[in-house]
Amino acid sequence: MTDSQNDPANDPRQSAPSALRNRDPILAQLRVLLPGQGRVVEVASGTGEHVAHFAAHLPGLMFQPTNRDDAGRASIDAWAAGLTNVRKAIPLDATGDWPREIYNAVLCINMIHIAPWEATLGLVRNAAHVLEPGGMLVLYGPFRRAGRHTASSNAAFDADLRGRDAAWGVRDLEDVAEVAARHGFGAPDVVALPANNLLVSFSLKTVPAAVTRT
Ligand SMILES: C[S@@+](CC[C@H](N)C(=O)[O-])C[C@H]1O[C@@H](n2cnc3c(N)ncnc32)[C@H](O)[C@@H]1O
Repeated sequence: MTDSQNDPANDPRQSAPSALRNRDPILAQLRVLLPGQGRVVEVASGTGEHVAHFAAHLPGLMFQPTNRDDAGRASIDAWAAGLTNVRKAIPLDATGDWPREIYNAVLCINMIHIAPWEATLGLVRNAAHVLEPGGMLVLYGPFRRAGRHTASSNAAFDADLRGRDAAWGVRDLEDVAEVAARHGFGAPDVVALPANNLLVSFSLKTVPAAVTRT
């Protein structure tokens, strides 16, 4: 996805057409999956259009958006202006060590295939450390299932991704589920969404032994 920008001199809000297309199908699933009240951290919030939309429609949840990029964080904060349930965007890399805040859900949309596999490993490991028991790790994007693409458009997208960066690529759902299980998550709940994307959610069953929650 390429973010197109408004005039950045006057308006930091970036816009991603895909976010406008997929935000309502994702929101419909978040209404089902997430608790009415609680705290959600979004990893790789992109432009901030998703988090602003979700926060406006899920007022009982407090959202913490993140972006590694300064301009991205400015965009998120601009889209979220006026929303009292969106915190200021913070820098966060999926592969690093995250601040030890506790959340009810970790949300990550369209990142794990546009990043090296280490980003998935870091995302799952960190999610297990910051989630409450029973907390949800929610992923959205294209996945392979049983070693196969679910659509020819996903196969073409995968080839394009790998051409751009050999470390990128559409992930196997089973590989992600295996990593999640290793970190204490249950089996994935999978919902098919438009354009051959999946909403995949994992519930944390076992808090990692190394984690002390005060
Ligand atoms: C396709 S964009 C998706 C942005 C947004 N979630 C959306 O759907 O519009 C992928 C984003 O993942 C971010 N990203 C890639 N690797 C990352 C990592 N290791 N940690 C955090 N963000 C990462 C990139 O900076 C990029 O903004």
